[in-house]
Amino acid sequence: MTTDQQTPPNETAGEYPKFYYPPENVVENANVTAYAREKGFANADELYAWTIENPQQFWGEMATKFLDWYQPWEKVLDDSNAPFFKWFTGAKTNVVHNAIDRHATGANKDKAAIIWESEQGETKTYTYAQLAAEVNRFANILKSQGVEKGDRVTVYLSRVPELVIAMLAIVKIGAMHSVVYGGFSTEALHSRIEDAKSKVLVTGDGGWMNNKIVELKKITDEAVDRAEDIVKSVIVLKRTGHDITMKEGRDHWWHDLAAQPGMDDPCPTEQMDTEDPMFMLYTSGTTGAPKGLVHACGGYQVQVATTLSFVFDIKPDDVYWCAADPGWITGHSYIVYGPLMLGATEVIYEGAPSYPNPGRWWDVAAKYGVTILYTAPTAIRGLMRFGEEWPNKYDLSKLRLLGSVGEPINPEAWRWYHRVIGKDRCPIMDTWWQTETGAFMITPNPTTPLKPGSGTKPFFGIEADVLTEEGEPATGADDGLLVIKKPWPSMLRTIYGDPKRYVEQYWTRLPGFYTAGDAARKDEDGYYWVIGRIDDVIKVSGYRLGTAEVESALVSHPAVAEAAAIGLPHELKGQAIHPYVILRQGFEASDALAEELRKHVGKEMGPIARPETINFVPGLPKTRSGKIMRRVLKARALGLPEGDTSTLEA
Ligand code: PRX
Repeated sequence: MTTDQQTPPNETAGEYPKFYYPPENVVENANVTAYAREKGFANADELYAWTIENPQQFWGEMATKFLDWYQPWEKVLDDSNAPFFKWFTGAKTNVVHNAIDRHATGANKDKAAIIWESEQGETKTYTYAQLAAEVNRFANILKSQGVEKGDRVTVYLSRVPELVIAMLAIVKIGAMHSVVYGGFSTEALHSRIEDAKSKVLVTGDGGWMNNKIVELKKITDEAVDRAEDIVKSVIVLKRTGHDITMKEGRDHWWHDLAAQPGMDDPCPTEQMDTEDPMFMLYTSGTTGAPKGLVHACGGYQVQVATTLSFVFDIKPDDVYWCAADPGWITGHSYIVYGPLMLGATEVIYEGAPSYPNPGRWWDVAAKYGVTILYTAPTAIRGLMRFGEEWPNKYDLSKLRLLGSVGEPINPEAWRWYHRVIGKDRCPIMDTWWQTETGAFMITPNPTTPLKPGSGTKPFFGIEADVLTEEGEPATGADDGLLVIKKPWPSMLRTIYGDPKRYVEQYWTRLPGFYTAGDAARKDEDGYYWVIGRIDDVIKVSGYRLGTAEVESALVSHPAVAEAAAIGLPHELKGQAIHPYVILRQGFEASDALAEELRKHVGKEMGPIARPETINFVPGLPKTRSGKIMRRVLKARALGLPEGDTSTLEA
């Protein structure tokens, strides 16, 4: 039963309101309320309508409201070569100026930028001035290793401040970072180095996760050995202090390079064209190798800063904590660049949420007086299973806003998060976006009435829709393809080295529109409900993995002739990987072999990709043209109808 009123939910009776309204003081004091009023609008809906009529004026205003520019733009949007859109053309900028330089020399210089806590309980605080000094030093180190404007530098580190420092230093000198998540493994790292052609790689001896050492350097060595002709220099951060091998001439300790003469000399921040590439980030797609999505220097900053201010409502005294990894787009936009552009204080916690006990996160939140917490459904579900007594031991009264990202949040987890963590007074910002979009696209703001499980409506200036394959609006209870109808500033610019694939992948299914690869539904109130991926992408604990990558890791094992991976629902992870495997002649199916294959995938790709089960099969359902029909495997596994199998091989 649903009721449309502002009474708190009666969870035990199973009676929930249709809308969860934000507290009046949150609405009244919201950044977005102030801006709407400044523009003469009564509320955010009126503001939205205006931004859709005047997107360029809106984004232009945002660009001056939140950022400084070395040189102003001539045009907000250049759509003369669609879908290769350009934003803020003619301007000169660098995100490092906006995120670091201007704070370090201004009123924020002694303000804490990053408060870091390790799994072992060590803490470190960097003020904006201290962070600027570290970024400056590492920028000089990179130059000493031959990094120049336009070069790609691969970064493979655990969740330490030096990861943020390395990213900022790379961008400061006009190079591009390609960050590979520290939970990935040999082949994932190797293929990304190979594609980006990074001559310099930044890593650590190891990292901590769940009180275990992640062997970053060992994995780096294996990956770089497969790309010897590319990587000329490996910079190694000493973190765990355990024994590793350093290769003479190629590997250098970060601290040794820092001790070279001249490393503290001022290193100028490179003035970039707005459309120069800023970074690339690999993500899994429908087929083949992961794609390096390229983001540009100008528009990215504008949308990231605007969304963070209007959605998470950052104020000068806030303590913001995004618990994602900087190695994913969430971390890029909303740990590294967004909060620093806004001069915020943020918390970065290195380790696992439940180490040494399931109260760890709540302890961190209470200890630092966190006011805004942004995390993923998988983490909420994971912590929920330990019961409310854990969060209830800690003082979470400073929390004002909560956030969710990465996959649809099931209403049960949403309500738990809202009631137990947010004490029924913290609106949840369920932000829908992608590596491709760079910043939030469909999201509430603190003034939006919420429905658990819905990302509500598009952000200001963003026009979205749910369409059928024929391009008609999907109506009623029907799902359709989630599309974005107009370009947006933080959009990806291309796929690295493959502009054709960029066009084919995103702009051809419904010509003129960007298709996100998600199925969605729009309800009678215009609220969006994202259902999930429609391609061969599996979301494991919110991490995006391609079936193709898992399959190629499997067939790299001598026992495997052919493999097909599918994702099936999993209580905590959202989805888990279940491959079907055909063995080569001479190999016998056994539990031991299944375990070996699971480990093998984990070693090649990383622990998150380790399959849940391995199903040995004599054959796989294929189309007559030989394409594996994963959809059929999935339907069979779930006991559902197989759908249209007219193209299935007899
Ligand atoms: O399927 C959608 C899901 O995550 C995909 C994008 O994954 P990735 O590029 O790794 O970026 C994740 C972090 C931005 C989307 O196509 N997704 C992301 N956020 C949500 C979501 N699904 C439902 N609700 C969300 N809030």
